[in-house]
Amino acid sequence: MTKILRIDASIRADGSVTRSVADTLQRELVERLGDATVATREIGMTPLPASAWAGAVFGPHTPAEQRTPEQQEGIALATALADELLAADAYVFALPFYNFGVSQHFKAYVDILLTEPRFAPGQPQLIAGRPAQLIIARGGGYGPGTPRHGWDHGTAWYQRVLTDILGLDVETTEVELTLADVTPAMESLREMAAENLAQGHVRAKQNAGRLAERLEV
Ligand SMILES: Cc1cc2nc3c(=O)[nH]c(=O)nc-3n(C[C@H](O)[C@H](O)[C@H](O)COP(=O)(O)O)c2cc1C
Repeated sequence: MTKILRIDASIRADGSVTRSVADTLQRELVERLGDATVATREIGMTPLPASAWAGAVFGPHTPAEQRTPEQQEGIALATALADELLAADAYVFALPFYNFGVSQHFKAYVDILLTEPRFAPGQPQLIAGRPAQLIIARGGGYGPGTPRHGWDHGTAWYQRVLTDILGLDVETTEVELTLADVTPAMESLREMAAENLAQGHVRAKQNAGRLAERLEV
């Protein structure tokens, strides 16, 4: 049975584009695979505790009997995140773009994970080569020729971490202009935004189909 791990980092449920595109991908993948299981780690609305990272960093260097509750919690959380990643055959990361950068909750996830000895930078990449689907949604547009070209400081980091730090084989689905419908200044972009969103769902479904074929081999 194929095990999928899905990680959601949007801070909203209603109207979340990353969740909705990930739902499309997941639905197609599960339908095609038949007997897949999907484990979910929701970190957008139920964030990992802010104190866990420092605990996970310093806990291992502190004698076990002297560890603070934060250190115990940080170490336990890092172990749980590492176990979850190792147990999966494939991954879906649904990650929004916030304040011209990454989700702080996913950053915290990565920070905690990398304290775990099995995922420490420089160690062999234990999940190298496994397939991952990265879904990103941005409210504005950042392509060449747009006023804010060069302001996307999130996408490259997401890809860097998943591809180079974790060693995953990543396919990315990006949706832009998701704020067009609720932003008067973006009114002229609404048609383009709707097309962009539709394309995102199409791409996610296609990616799921190819991933299912790969996982079935
Ligand atoms: C607090 C906050 C900050 C945001 N900052 C940006 C931003 O800097 N640039 C941008 O293009 N969109 C920004 N957005 C819009 C999100 O990228 C957009 O709503 C995206 O669809 C979020 O993913 P979701 O739909 O899955 O929630 C922001 C949204 C929120 C809630």
